[in-house]
Amino acid sequence: MPRLPLCLCVLCAALGLALLLLLLVPQPAAAAPPGANAPGSPGPVSFINDVAPILKENCFACHDAKKRKGKYDMTTFEGFQKGGDKAADGIVKTILPGKPEESHLLELLKAKDNSRMPPREAGDPLPAAKIKVIEQWIKEGAKLDQGLTAKADLLRELRVRWKPPAPPAAYKFPVAVTALAFTPDNKKLVVGGHHELTVWDVNAAKLEKRVRTRSERAYGMAFLPDGKLVVAGGRPGQEGDLKVYDLNGGTPKTENGVAVLDGVNDRAVMLKQLLEADDSVLCVAVSPDGKKLASGGCDRLVNVWDLSGGIANARLEQTIENHADWVFGVAFSPDGKRLLTASRDKTAKVWDLAAKESVLTFPDHQNYVYAVAVKGDGKLGYSVGEDNQLRTFNAAGEGKQVRASGGHSKPVFKVVLHPRQPLLATCSADMTVRLWNPDNGAAVRTLSGHTDWVYAVAFSPDGNLIASGSWNGEVRVWKVADGALVKAFNASPGYTPPAPVKK
Ligand code: HEC
Repeated sequence: MPRLPLCLCVLCAALGLALLLLLLVPQPAAAAPPGANAPGSPGPVSFINDVAPILKENCFACHDAKKRKGKYDMTTFEGFQKGGDKAADGIVKTILPGKPEESHLLELLKAKDNSRMPPREAGDPLPAAKIKVIEQWIKEGAKLDQGLTAKADLLRELRVRWKPPAPPAAYKFPVAVTALAFTPDNKKLVVGGHHELTVWDVNAAKLEKRVRTRSERAYGMAFLPDGKLVVAGGRPGQEGDLKVYDLNGGTPKTENGVAVLDGVNDRAVMLKQLLEADDSVLCVAVSPDGKKLASGGCDRLVNVWDLSGGIANARLEQTIENHADWVFGVAFSPDGKRLLTASRDKTAKVWDLAAKESVLTFPDHQNYVYAVAVKGDGKLGYSVGEDNQLRTFNAAGEGKQVRASGGHSKPVFKVVLHPRQPLLATCSADMTVRLWNPDNGAAVRTLSGHTDWVYAVAFSPDGNLIASGSWNGEVRVWKVADGALVKAFNASPGYTPPAPVKK
């Protein structure tokens, strides 16, 4: 899906979720380099490098372990070879090594009638060049690459082989800021970039460090008590991960006067991978005592880790399947015993971590719920969503709505609590950040100046500053006390915004 030009996306902000989803759906990959041994080049066609990517792209949508259309699961080599219904009945041979003309699979790929695969209703036939790759591979004996087992999960094997690109030295387009966080010393901001995290000195509004990541985008960030950073992210539709970084680890290289860390390969920088998923991980939260960590994502699951033995000994404590759709937000109650969650299934929920059961469901948004927060005494929960509302509900009781606070004129993406004062912050597609009194729901202040959707908002740990990030890469930092703008900068390294158009 093409990324819409900025002007259009502002105009279309009313479309609400549709465009937010652009951030989450797969972007067309840059033209993949042809397999090293594709037809025409010397040497045999490789199953994993040449054939499997074609299957993943064109067939797995219907022939994975869940859907198994025609009782055909191709997500292992074994399953791919075996075939489905008709092969099981002995009517056909799916793949006959050395004999493409007798292989049912090729017959279906080339079919001109309704038997064609992928089916007509799913779109165009497979391009001839791709059919050729599969044909050639069968001709050469339909072999599995050395070092792979027939039962290996092909999605995972493809993921392992995928190499993240280096982030651009200078960005041609601004990066959509989907997550940011202040460092524990309040002086720096970590912002999600394109396959990297960027670290900015707030006072100087200056880029200090770039940390390469495997993840294309960061969707959530949380600092642990020891100063290590947990980042939830992914490559939309392809993979997701939850990783722990030491932004002061490793040996930085210097590029254009900026320190560059390798968070992809350097294990002194990327300390630990907590989760590997088939799609993006969208949110992360640390319990107030730092002993528990929770994440949620496109797989609808919420995972909770016990960190009491330190991050090196992090233990996956439970996996919660409580939502029917993507989990956009997680927040711990102050005592760490309950977890609030927000989902695309249009509900916020509260989960009892000890009893491992759902305590309540808050359905009042009747639309996508993007984020949740919970007050210091654990009694009041807050949620925001596609319905433009900040809603307060009884998180310790039956989940009845206490109030709905209107003010934002577009969907609200995040809600966060001030670390000390009774103050809530929200950010929205209406290009504003708003501060609220969590006790009575009253609007305290509106922070404006962004010129695009605001996706990310964070308080500094000392509570003096608030930062927000938007679709067009702009980060704005304000004083909490009076709303005065401290700094504004574009968090896309080397990016030069176009000159304003004269009217
Ligand atoms: C939109 C869903 C969809 C997609 C995409 C799709 N298929 Fe299918 N496929 C089906 C369905 C449904 C059947 C069962 C058809 C039947 O039994 O008549 C099937 C059956 C098959 C069979 C026969 C299995 C057997 O032994 O009975 C083969 C082989 C096959 N598909 C190959 C492929 C390949 C290769 C691709 C990718 C290039 C692909 N399909 C993409 C839906 C799909």
